[in-house]
Amino acid sequence: FEHASTRICAVSDIPEDDGLKVEFPDRSPLAVWLVEDKVFVTDDTCTHGQASLTDGGMLDGFIIECGLHLGAFDIRDGRVESAPCTKPLTVYAASVLDGDVYADLVTLVEIERHHG
Ligand code: FES
Repeated sequence: FEHASTRICAVSDIPEDDGLKVEFPDRSPLAVWLVEDKVFVTDDTCTHGQASLTDGGMLDGFIIECGLHLGAFDIRDGRVESAPCTKPLTVYAASVLDGDVYADLVTLVEIERHHG
C-alpha cells in the first residue's frame, strides 16, 4: 500500500455485508463496507442530502440505498443507481494489510465512463 494510505479501521470492526461509519476530526465521515469479503471505502454522507448512508441506509449486494429519499449508489465505483441522487458518491482506493483497512483519501476512484 502507498504512503498516502490512512488506516481506517480493522476489517473485524465491519459488520459482514454491511457498513461501518468512521468519523474523523478533520474531514467528513467515511463508510467502510464489507461485501463478499471485499472492502470498499466511500463517503458516508449521501450526495443528495445530509443523510448518513450507514445510519438508515440499506445495503443490498453492492448497492447502498439511502434511507432518507431512497436514492442509491454502487459502493464499488460510486455511480448513481437511483434518483433522486445525481452526483456520484466519492469512493476511495482501499486495501487490507494485516487485518486493517487502509484507504488512499487523496486519489479518488474514477467512475468508468466507457459503458452505457
Ligand atoms: Fe440520500 Fe436524499 S439524502 S437520497
